[in-house]
This record gives sequence, C-alpha cells and structure tokens, in this order.
Amino acid sequence: MANRVRTAVFPVAGLGTRFLPATKAMPKEMLTVVDRPVIQYAVDEAREAGIEHFVFVTGRNKGVIEDHFDRQFELEATLEARGKSEALAELRRDLPRAGQTSFTRQQEPLGLGHAVWCARDIVGREPFALLLPDMIFQSAPGVLKQMMDAYETTGGNVIAVEEVPMENVASYGVVARGEGPDTGFAITGMVEKPKPANAPSNLIISGRYILQPEIFSLLSDATAGAGGEIQITDAMHQLMARQSFTGVKYQGRSFDCGSKIGFLTANVVFALDRPDIADDFMAELKTLTGDIPISIAN
Ligand code: UTP
Repeated sequence: MANRVRTAVFPVAGLGTRFLPATKAMPKEMLTVVDRPVIQYAVDEAREAGIEHFVFVTGRNKGVIEDHFDRQFELEATLEARGKSEALAELRRDLPRAGQTSFTRQQEPLGLGHAVWCARDIVGREPFALLLPDMIFQSAPGVLKQMMDAYETTGGNVIAVEEVPMENVASYGVVARGEGPDTGFAITGMVEKPKPANAPSNLIISGRYILQPEIFSLLSDATAGAGGEIQITDAMHQLMARQSFTGVKYQGRSFDCGSKIGFLTANVVFALDRPDIADDFMAELKTLTGDIPISIAN
C-alpha cells in the first residue's frame, strides 16, 4: 500500500509581479476571491483531502499569511460580544489546529523548484502534496482529493492535468499521456513551456502534485531551466526514470488567480456560487451587461 500523504507544501514566496502595485506590500496569495484569501481555498482543498500538516514557503512581505493562519483573540472576543456567532464559527473552522502549520523562508525567489526544495527538512522522508495556491478550482470533490483517490491504487507520483488549446501550451508544464483512464493514466514524458509544435500533448500541469521525497535530492542538484528559474518540472522529468508518474485529468474547472483575467473570473464564478449574494450579484451583472446572457458552467 502507498505511504499515506499527510503533509502539503504551499509555495508562497513569489513576487507576484503581474499584480503590482497591489502586491508591493501585500502577498498575492492574500488577494480575495469574494471574501476569502486565495491561499485559504488551497488550504481548504488540502484539508478535505486528509492533509494534517500545512507547510508554507514564504518570503519577505509575507508575514500576514502567518497571521492569517493564527488565532486573533481580540477579534474573536469582539465577535463573541456582538453575538456574531456565524462569523466566529467560520473563522474557527478555517484555522488549522495548533501545531499543524510550519513556515520556512525562501530567501530569494529562484523559482518554484527552489521554493519546494526549501521545505525539504520539514517534509522529511515522506510523500507530500504540493499545491500552487494561485490555482483554485470549482470542483467536487476537490482536485487533491481526486488525486488521492488515484494515489491509493498507483502510489508513486501523481499530477493533476487539464486540457488547454494547443496554442496556449507554451505558458505551462506539459505531459505526454500513456495508457489509462482520465482518473489515472501513465505519464510518459513532460516538458516545461514547450513551443506548440514540440509539445507532447495539450495536457498541462495544473498546480497540484503528489510527490515522493526523492524529488528533493534532484532539486538540490538542479540548475536554472526555462525562464532562468529552478523548475520543478525538470526535476520531475529526471525522477520519471526511477519512479511512476500518474496523471489525473480532474473533474472541475480551474482559475489561474496569478493572472488578472483568471482572478477576476474566479471572483464572478465564486460569487455566483454563494447563496447569500448570488441573486443580488447576478442582478448587478445584468445591469452591467445589458441583455447579454451570462451562463456559468459548473
Ligand atoms: P508564479 O510564477 O505564478 O508566481 O509561481 P510569481 O513569480 O509570484 O508571479 P508573477 O509572474 O511575478 O506575477 C507560482 C507559485 O510559486 C510560488 C509563487 O508564490 C506562486 O504561489 N513561487 C514562485 C515561489 O514560492 N518562489 C519562487 O521563486 C517562484
């Protein structure tokens, strides 16, 4: 049986240059989709999948992420005194339990692979989940849970993938698909940011991974790849020579909140999914768009 995955790593040390000036003093992971910071969606997804230890790789100006996952006694006392029990219950529900969080720093943003490597001593010799919090999903069950279901049978390494138009592959890591169904197929190759003509498929890596700890020694030896950054895809490609990689073409829809369009779209879709505001928000959207019908795919 595959070793249980108990730990998740959240790399949150990037500079978020696409969201300047908003991200000059505030981490992009704290930008809100409706009323929850983007990072909270990824933490909720990990918790749903059975994760018990949440490891954040932070950097300068990211202290507020640590505060977000801490208790705020003054606020809690005020909510209690004002009888705001629902808000209080929500705050408590969102919070990982004492001792379930760890924080380490990536001192320079040398790339995603380097950020993951910074978590090596905290993760130790266990398989771990890696969640890029920029990507959030509308899916049930959550994407990491769908991957855990595959992992129970396959073990090894598991990557969530989705289809994009071929002309867009150059912005992503891309996998080559072998035998097996969408819920768990063999990955036979992968490449970071290929030109469409050289891409092995139009299946891109969607920011969710289950990885074996052997990835860390490969990341130790890694040199900068595409874009001058240490890439996780290059290390995974090397690990493929020794271990299995399974792709899960997940059920659901992704929003790349690291891009303005993805972030704005996520706000619309998640707001329309919220019973407390959906009707009023839809009415506003209709006045903005005239008679253009807005349909939200589930
Ligand atoms: P991105 O490349 O999307 O993040 O990395 P970025 O560099 O912050 O964004 P832009 O392009 O400048 O706007 C995906 C995830 O990896 C983290 C980011 O914080 C983000 O969650 N990351 C990236 C690190 O932790 N360290 C890095 O060196 C690079």
